[in-house]
Amino acid sequence: MPSPKLNPQTTTLWEYASQHYGNTEQGSSTYRGATPSYIIWNLLERYTKKKDLVVDPFCGSGTTIDVARDLERRALGYDLQPHHPGVFKADARNLPLEDGKADFIFMDPPYGDNLKYSGQRACIGELAATDPAYFVALEEVFKEIDRVLKPGRYLAIYVCDVWKRSAFVPIGSIVSSMLAQRFLPVDHIAVVRGNKDLGKGNYHKAAEEENFFLRGFNHLLIFKKPAAEELRRVKVQEKVERRNESAPENRGGRDYGTGSRDKGNRGTGNHDGSRRR
Ligand SMILES: C[S@@+](CC[C@H](N)C(=O)[O-])C[C@H]1O[C@@H](n2cnc3c(N)ncnc32)[C@H](O)[C@@H]1O
Repeated sequence: MPSPKLNPQTTTLWEYASQHYGNTEQGSSTYRGATPSYIIWNLLERYTKKKDLVVDPFCGSGTTIDVARDLERRALGYDLQPHHPGVFKADARNLPLEDGKADFIFMDPPYGDNLKYSGQRACIGELAATDPAYFVALEEVFKEIDRVLKPGRYLAIYVCDVWKRSAFVPIGSIVSSMLAQRFLPVDHIAVVRGNKDLGKGNYHKAAEEENFFLRGFNHLLIFKKPAAEELRRVKVQEKVERRNESAPENRGGRDYGTGSRDKGNRGTGNHDGSRRR
């Protein structure tokens, strides 16, 4: 069946009725957990230009490699379990790549242990999302991509929250806060899931009867590694905030009433005491 027409997505709600575009496959439809290729196509169209180097540390069946080739970008894909001739075997926490080489990074990591991948000890998909070790491992990956990404360039991560009978783990929010410690937030997109399970009546019945929600969307989080100038600006801003926090009139904890809060320059207030939007 031919894929529907591929158009650039222009809102923060993305939907496309096929795993692949055009007359061929990007990545592999037989690889469990493969990323829908239109997501990567949209990101590369927006945040990269021809000949840019795109890096994917969780490249699996090579969807990123195939989309990059279609758009005439260069690509390097890594995975513990390569499933495409162009993907190299490597741990996402230790990429064989020099500092500051990547023009764009795309990542679709395991969402806890929701799918079985290689079963290797180093596979992040062996760690349940409820286990703090899962987020420790992701933090190590974020440190590594910070190393290989050029300043002033973008990265995107595609993740899904996890709901189990024991717990809800908001992976999207947690990962967003973690990345914001290193990078500048650019946007947050909800990607409608084309999961076949969502078409099953018994799944909906269970969700209603057992009082839970089926996952209807994935998070696509976009960040930018600050360029030198942006980094200087952020540092100055932090210094000003620290100085304001320690000013005598602002010491003694937060005032949650209507009293002194509007008199000082704290938080998002401007120097004239006003609060611009
Ligand atoms: C959601 S899949 C990515 C699918 C891929 N984007 C595609 O379209 O085929 C997650 C991948 O992470 C890989 N993985 C898990 N732990 C890893 C690690 N420590 N280093 C590199 N890859 C890892 C798994 O082998 C799996 O292929």
